[in-house]
Amino acid sequence: ATPVIVAIDGPAGTGKSSTSKAVAAQLGLSYLDTGAQYRAITWWMVTNGIDIDDPAAIAAAAGKPEIVSGTDPQGPTITVDGVDVAGPIRTQEVSSKVSAVSAVPEVRARITELQRSIAASAANGIVVEGRDIGTTVLPDAHLKIFLTASPEARAARRSGELKGADVHSTREALIKRDAADSSRKTSPLAKADDAVEVDTTELTLAQVIECVVTLVEEKR
Ligand code: C5P
Repeated sequence: ATPVIVAIDGPAGTGKSSTSKAVAAQLGLSYLDTGAQYRAITWWMVTNGIDIDDPAAIAAAAGKPEIVSGTDPQGPTITVDGVDVAGPIRTQEVSSKVSAVSAVPEVRARITELQRSIAASAANGIVVEGRDIGTTVLPDAHLKIFLTASPEARAARRSGELKGADVHSTREALIKRDAADSSRKTSPLAKADDAVEVDTTELTLAQVIECVVTLVEEKR
């Protein structure tokens, strides 16, 4: 079989990561979390004292950190200059700054190139999740999925993950991040014209996984 490329996009809290990992594991495909890459470059900017409110400073530094993603869906990894950042990239500080960093065109160009080379070298195919995978990074993907869910469902899922974080402030932070991601000039969060939209509000994770697996199998 030719390597199948699956793009899964959508806002935060729609179940993208859980779905993408499970689908990849079930079908023997690689897995790439592109949000983790944007979080990793943001972590590096914060750690190195780059002013997040200065796009020119971010652009000038965009080429410096070396970001490496491990694509095993059973245990994806992410390092920056050899440092494991899987934990540090999930802090609220990084979450609140990642939209500003990922809006900078030089950052997107750098990370997009990395994503394309990872996808091209995945011998068995890959599931790539993010915001602009179907529209910009891999416009020729065999299958494009756009996951959505109500703001309430997304905030409830995310605050569950954050172990007790309050749902109201999680909801506000998610809405703010989605608005920033959807309104930026360079490859905003958007549904590709040829993407299949799946509203996960009323679905269990198992149902979403089954739905996507069926769609992938139809393409193979
Ligand atoms: O998926 P996750 O919520 O970890 O993504 C973190 C952030 O990374 C998003 O809010 C967005 O600003 C950025 N991102 C992006 N393009 C992608 C994936 C993530 O701009 N393909």
